[in-house]
Amino acid sequence: MSISGKTRVCGVIGDPISHTLSPIIHNAAFSHLKLDFVYLAFDVKPSELENAMQGIKGLGIHGLNVTMPHKKAVLRFLDEVDQTVKFLGVVNTILNKKGQLCGFNTDGFGALRALKENRFDLSGKKALLLGAGGAAKAIALSLAEEVEELTLLNRTFEKVREIEEKLNQHFGEKVRSDTLSPGNVKKYLRDSDIVINATSVGMYPNLSQSIVPLEILRPDLVVMDIVYNPVETELVENARAAGARVITGVEMLIHQGAASFEIWTGCPAPVDVMRKAALGKLASLGEDR
Ligand SMILES: NC(=O)c1ccc[n+]([C@@H]2O[C@H](COP(=O)([O-])OP(=O)(O)OC[C@H]3O[C@@H](n4cnc5c(N)ncnc54)[C@H](OP(=O)(O)O)[C@@H]3O)[C@@H](O)[C@H]2O)c1
Repeated sequence: MSISGKTRVCGVIGDPISHTLSPIIHNAAFSHLKLDFVYLAFDVKPSELENAMQGIKGLGIHGLNVTMPHKKAVLRFLDEVDQTVKFLGVVNTILNKKGQLCGFNTDGFGALRALKENRFDLSGKKALLLGAGGAAKAIALSLAEEVEELTLLNRTFEKVREIEEKLNQHFGEKVRSDTLSPGNVKKYLRDSDIVINATSVGMYPNLSQSIVPLEILRPDLVVMDIVYNPVETELVENARAAGARVITGVEMLIHQGAASFEIWTGCPAPVDVMRKAALGKLASLGEDR
């Protein structure tokens, strides 16, 4: 990578941020396409968010990813947001368009693209989505546009109830919600074509946990886990053992990142290069454990 006087700066803001894979993924993509861009990680404390956002304009930073804890707080510093952000109230990508800061959320799009690239057609399908955090909400919105029926389960029931109500106002009565419990997972999975884990269960360091036990997984199911650290979560391992079709969290990670990349550069993202970079880094993290 060579830095010039015209290099465009992109990056990610969050706190903490040192664990992020995004610089590795995006710099690999910029290098591959020989784009004069660089991607950095910025550790921004909540008390410094306003200064950081002014700095983006002041320094002419071209694009940003936004991660915890700033995904909501950043909204008040933006000049425009897309429809998805209006619905979700959460931003993960910013484009600095000649001093106008525009906000996007690529999480749901990334999840959908991961499913489509893996040749899973959602139309007419019944989907079961576990979780109601930031990622789950974005995925729920994207799924509701495509599937026939969507069931949302979450440990804190009020959160899925709220998402259900909001989605049903837009998409008719195709969304329902319930409490996440072993009995309900079993009950709703029986009737589902696809199950997506969008909780943080199974994420490092709690490696041996899964919400969906092996006994209820089936070969005709599609199983997607959005947890990507580790790539082979307990759920992913169990789904493979049951003969189900599996989509790992790396696929969503890559495709939501690819969507950000395309917003900043206007170029189709080199998805294979990005995947290879992410998997390489995740493998080295696994070896260090
Ligand atoms: N692949 C990707 O591109 C991608 C993108 C974004 C996030 N992620 C991953 O997705 C996961 C969720 O991220 P997020 O940003 O949505 O997090 P979040 O907003 O903190 O939400 C966490 C979700 O997990 C649930 N949860 C946590 N511990 C649980 C437990 N022991 N039992 C049952 N449910 C539990 C929470 O339920 P309550 O509401 O009851 O607390 C909530 O629904 C993380 O592992 C993150 O790394 C992946």
